[in-house]
Amino acid sequence: MEERIPGHVAVIMDGNGRWAKKRLLPRSAGHRAGMNRMISLSEHIFDCGVKWCTLYALSTENLRRPQEELDGLFGLFREYFIKNTQTLKKKGITLRVIGNLELLPPDVQDIIRKGEEDTKGGARGTLVLAIAYGARQEILSAVNRAVKEGKEVTEESFSSLLQTDGIPDPDLLIRTGKELRLSNFLLWQSAYTELYFTEKLFPDFTDKEFDKALKSFSERERRFGKVEK
Ligand code: IPE
Ligand code: IPE
Ligand code: MG
Repeated sequence: MEERIPGHVAVIMDGNGRWAKKRLLPRSAGHRAGMNRMISLSEHIFDCGVKWCTLYALSTENLRRPQEELDGLFGLFREYFIKNTQTLKKKGITLRVIGNLELLPPDVQDIIRKGEEDTKGGARGTLVLAIAYGARQEILSAVNRAVKEGKEVTEESFSSLLQTDGIPDPDLLIRTGKELRLSNFLLWQSAYTELYFTEKLFPDFTDKEFDKALKSFSERERRFGKVEK
């Protein structure tokens, strides 16, 4: 059977802290290992022919973690954008960030905006990073915009008020790190998304493990509520 490749894959990159704990390392070491894995994995995902890849890097709720951990994560974001923007540009990958960026340190916001600007128009695919992202907050802000404009919304017009405007809904959503929940990720957009959960902690989620998720996806029958033909 020919393998069907999902157009849009979203990944909840969970388990960095537990990966570090197992090795008696600080959580920051887990986040660094996670970032390294994220860089290689995103390359692999586009090599597989996926056009849209959304990676959940930080939730709005994660911003309540201890300041020391957050400072480490902000440092990694700085490093990531400064080191990778040009590589992404060369590879024809457009970078887009969704989330409440105003909650991040101003210099990180600037670096992110610059990364988006520099990679604009890359035609091979789009890498969407969800940073300080929360689906409920996203939905509420869309509702408030609609209310302000006094307009009744449709599924289509509501979707275009979300931060994911222009991005197709995910076909496949993967969560690493054993938990079986969405943790405030793409709640509206994942109405008919195929879900794949793995116990692998994110730094251990190899390209090969990703290929297993692809295989599982290609064996699914998506019905969208209709009866089988
Ligand atoms: C995911 O790993 C990355 C972020 C949420 C920033 P965690 O930090 O949640 O790792 P665990 O779940 O504690 O292992
Ligand atoms: C979800 O992981 C957010 C990201 C991976 C960025 P969490 O570790 O925050 O999720 P919970 O707290 O286990 O639900
Ligand atoms: Mg976690």
